[in-house]
Amino acid sequence: MEPMQILSVVGARPQFVKLAPIASALRGKADHLIAHTGQHYDELMSDVFFQDLGIPAPDFNLAVGSGTHGRQTGAMLAGLEEVLEQTRPDWVLVYGDTNSTLAAAVAAVKMHIPVAHLEAGLRSFNRRMPEEHNRVLTDHAADLLLAPTEVAMKHLATEGLAGRSVLVGDVMTDVLYRTRDAVQAKHEPLPEGLAAGQYYVSTIHRPDNTNDADRLGEIVDQLASLDKPVLLLAHPRLRSLAEGHGIALNQGAVKSICPLAYPQLINAVQHSAGVVTDSGGLQKEAFLLRVPCTTVRPETEWVETVELGWNVLVSADLSELKSAVTRPTPSATNAAPYGSGQAAHQVAAALLGSIGIH
Ligand code: UD1
Repeated sequence: MEPMQILSVVGARPQFVKLAPIASALRGKADHLIAHTGQHYDELMSDVFFQDLGIPAPDFNLAVGSGTHGRQTGAMLAGLEEVLEQTRPDWVLVYGDTNSTLAAAVAAVKMHIPVAHLEAGLRSFNRRMPEEHNRVLTDHAADLLLAPTEVAMKHLATEGLAGRSVLVGDVMTDVLYRTRDAVQAKHEPLPEGLAAGQYYVSTIHRPDNTNDADRLGEIVDQLASLDKPVLLLAHPRLRSLAEGHGIALNQGAVKSICPLAYPQLINAVQHSAGVVTDSGGLQKEAFLLRVPCTTVRPETEWVETVELGWNVLVSADLSELKSAVTRPTPSATNAAPYGSGQAAHQVAAALLGSIGIH
């Protein structure tokens, strides 16, 4: 029998991280093709992830680049339709909640090619977020919903999608544990000038925090007044908007540098005194490494991190940021809401048909 052909579609940084354990779990079990939309194209936002995480080079690269949501998603949709015409895979696997996710889901479903959505069922219930539109639309288009948590399964059931859903666990946990062990074994050095436990790691890139000059200015002011150095890993969006708003990213406690590659990021977070972020993935990575996190958003999809006391949300009143970041260390917990690091095997089993939808 011919091996099953699975086409993964990725395009943005967090998707490369999720792809790594999947590519490894599918190796030797399926004919696995990779299409990169080109949504992220800078070396530090894309290529280094493929190199460091041992991901095979993409079979297709659409080089779509940046644009408004509609133009960017539309260009991907057109490009992916051609890829699907050529390949006609048994499954299209889409990841997370970016514009690349939505474009691939729509391209495939229109061509009657089965679509599986990895990280299905996450909800912020914030309809200002492009990611929320992408998640909801992708879940309702997909044939197989691969959910990371019990909470995600509940959201899918509430939306009438229980029949297509399967709980597989969180694949970012797989790659995080593997990378944590590798950087520990290598004694990876910290970024220059930083001492373990004596700095914070920060990332800020969401439109709601960066598009408005006053909001971004206040966030940077708050970070600048923290009691320890803040390593600000500046996404290109942050850098260009800060420049446009006339906001200096290096001031007070803040030291901004380019985004880090994944192993260096995990190493920096693991040895930090805390994380301040608006990223989805980083909140969870901080929790898994048991580093306190403060999230600059009104809500989170990863509610378990908040319920367990390792994540605090600060949004409307940014003056609360300092007290949140310097709060006492949360109580220790053995809770494992994101699984044990074996999710990618569950995903492979679901796609290859050995665990089914009930
Ligand atoms: C996207 C995802 C977001 C994810 C984030 C991770 C959507 C709607 N959002 O947001 O969920 O958390 O990726 O990083 O898909 N840029 C570059 N070089 C790059 C990539 C982007 O310079 O390699 C600049 C461009 O000016 C672009 C801006 O960053 O306009 C934003 O990039 P885009 O891909 O549109 O969205 P992100 O903010 O990265």
